[in-house]
Amino acid sequence: MNLEELNKIAIAIVAPGKGILAADESTGTIKKRFESIGAVSTEENRRDYREMLFRTTEAMENHVSGVILFDETIRQSAADGTPLVKLIQDAGSIPGVKVDAGAKDMAGYPGEKVTEGLDGLRERLNEYHELGARFAKWRAVIDIARNGEMTMPSWGCVKANAHALARYAALCQEAGIVPIVEPEVLMDGDHSAGRCYEVTNWALKTLYAELFEANVALEGTILKPNMIVSGKLSSSQAGVDEVAEKTVKCFRDAVPASVPGIVFLSGGQSDQAASAHLNAMNAQYKDQMPWQLSFSYGRALQAAPLQAWAGKAANLPAAQAAFAHRARMNGLAQLGDWTESMEQTA
Ligand code: 13P
Repeated sequence: MNLEELNKIAIAIVAPGKGILAADESTGTIKKRFESIGAVSTEENRRDYREMLFRTTEAMENHVSGVILFDETIRQSAADGTPLVKLIQDAGSIPGVKVDAGAKDMAGYPGEKVTEGLDGLRERLNEYHELGARFAKWRAVIDIARNGEMTMPSWGCVKANAHALARYAALCQEAGIVPIVEPEVLMDGDHSAGRCYEVTNWALKTLYAELFEANVALEGTILKPNMIVSGKLSSSQAGVDEVAEKTVKCFRDAVPASVPGIVFLSGGQSDQAASAHLNAMNAQYKDQMPWQLSFSYGRALQAAPLQAWAGKAANLPAAQAAFAHRARMNGLAQLGDWTESMEQTA
């Protein structure tokens, strides 16, 4: 393992004013996204849409440090034959790839999931490195029980997912690839922000114990977590300042200072909430945090361009403008310089 090289990549991913574009929707997920705008999901359509994003020069050069790709996309070329990986590199951004095989029902734990994909991962990582990937992503999914029940998550689920994340991370570092470790506590339930704090803190402490046991060098990793928010179905929603305060407190308690950066997922937050929350943390707590705080948004960067595109070639410039705007808003939020009034100048 060349730790110096891994550390350099991790630091570049969390460069000031920049973050990650998560464009690694699996074939099933992108189909759902396309259906929501009335577009059919074909290989060519998926290519055209993603090519549009990667050719949005203003966003890519100024605010996107890295792009997470799906297996299909890392092998695809633009309409003019240029590999999509090259488009990303030419914009000064780093290509990455999702390497997990998805969250599957966990045997013995009804209602809970464990992420699969370790078999053959060493060989796949070596191939992805050849194809240009310098970082990877593995997402674990942790759900919180409804109605205040304490049945989920179980210790078995938290532990199994942390263990798989650690084994993935060790294989990535061996292959010269920075592992993004993503233990996502879902915001789908009716739980309070306090319960989200408890579960996230537990999942993170378990994850860092497993990473230690797997001999993973934290300087060559990035964490991709959820923020501490109220469940979507909860009648009482934590405000922006409470989310910022609880999130920073939780991570200061659980994430070692040697981790170069934390890049949040958006997880179903509205575009503007995702920017406001990230901004509040960076504006209010920058001098209390040992790591950079940035974004690795899928929906919060792509919902607007998807709507603008609607599957029609004529709308590609409008889609690029929408993507450039969201990338700029989140770049500003990374610096703590975003304000709500900037949203109106779209
Ligand atoms: P969202 O920002 O849409 O949650 O997606 C980020 C991601 O990559 C989840 O794995």
